Amino acid sequence: MPMPMPATGPQATVRAVTGAAADAVRVVLEVDRVEKVFATSEGGTLRALAPTSFEVRAGEFVAVIGPSGCGKSTLFNIIGGLEPATAGEVRVDGHAVSGSHRDIGMVFQEESTFPWRNVLDNVAFGLEVAGMGRAERHEKARTLIRMVGLDGFERRLPAELSGGMRQRTAIARTLASEPRILLLDEPFASLDEQTRMLLGEQLIEICGALRQTALLITHNISEAVQLSDRVAVMSFRPGTIKRIVDIDLPRPRTTDMIGSAAFGRYVQQIWEELKAEALRGMQAAVR
Ligand SMILES: Nc1ncnc2c1ncn2[C@@H]1O[C@H](COP(=O)(O)OP(=O)(O)OP(=O)(O)O)[C@@H](O)[C@H]1O
Ligand SMILES: [Mg+2]
Repeated sequence: MPMPMPATGPQATVRAVTGAAADAVRVVLEVDRVEKVFATSEGGTLRALAPTSFEVRAGEFVAVIGPSGCGKSTLFNIIGGLEPATAGEVRVDGHAVSGSHRDIGMVFQEESTFPWRNVLDNVAFGLEVAGMGRAERHEKARTLIRMVGLDGFERRLPAELSGGMRQRTAIARTLASEPRILLLDEPFASLDEQTRMLLGEQLIEICGALRQTALLITHNISEAVQLSDRVAVMSFRPGTIKRIVDIDLPRPRTTDMIGSAAFGRYVQQIWEELKAEALRGMQAAVR
C-alpha cells in the first residue's frame, strides 16, 4: 500500500489528481490557538502554553518536539481531552472536541497495560468495553497482535514481557479501537536506543498499512525525523509551535536511513531550532 506523503514538492501535485489525494490533504486534527495556564500549589499561575495552532492531515505522521517542560504533555493531554484548555479549541474533522473522545487514541510514556490481563485481553479491552462479542474482538485483537509482531504471546501476562513488548501491546490496544488520530506521548522513552529505533520502524510500517493519522510527542530528534512527514518544533515555556519542518525523505523509512547525509541535515536543522529553546530551559532551571 502506498505511504501518504507530505503535501509538499512534486508528490503534492501528483496527489492532487488521484483519488487518494483528497483524503491525504484533508485536515483531520486542528489545534486552534490553544492556551494553558495552570494554577500552582503556591497560589500563583504558570503559563504552560502560549496560543498554539497547527493541523494534521489524513494519513500524516506529525511529531511535536520541544525541550523538557515546554508543555508537550500539556498539549497531549488537552488534545486527548484529559485536561481542559484555558483558551482555544481542538477540532477533529471540523468538530470541536472536549473531554476524552473515541476519535483520539492515546499511548502514554509510562506503561499502561493491565497487569492482570493477558496480551489478547489487553488488546481487546477497548472492544470489550464497546460491547463487541468475544469471538469478534479476539479476532480483531489477533490481527493487531500480529501487526506489532507479538504473535505467540497472546496468553502471556505483561509481567512476562519486555518493556518494548508491553509498549507494543499498548499500541495494539489503542489501534484496535480504530481512532481517527493516534496520539503518542514519548511512547519509547523508557526503552533502550536499539529497541526504540526498531519499534519506530515498526510503528511507521503499521501506520502506513492502516493509513493511520498520528501525532507523536517527543524530545528525541532522530525519532522525530525517522518517523515524521512534518516536525513541529516548540519553544520553551510558555510553549508554542516555533517552526514546522517538512521531512522530505523517501518512504519506507528504515533505520538504515539514519546514517544518510539527508537525515543528518534534518537532525542538524531541528537541533539548531531547538538549541536556543533548550538553553533557555536550562537557564530557567538554575535560576
Ligand atoms: N497540573 C499541573 N499544575 C501546575 N503546573 C503544571 C501541571 N502540569 C504541568 N505543569 C507545568 O507546565 C509546564 C509544562 O509541563 P509539561 O509536562 O507539559 O512539559 P513537557 O514538555 O511534557 O516536559 P517533559 O519533556 O519533561 O515531559 C511545566 O513547567 C510544568 O511544571
Ligand atoms: Mg512530557
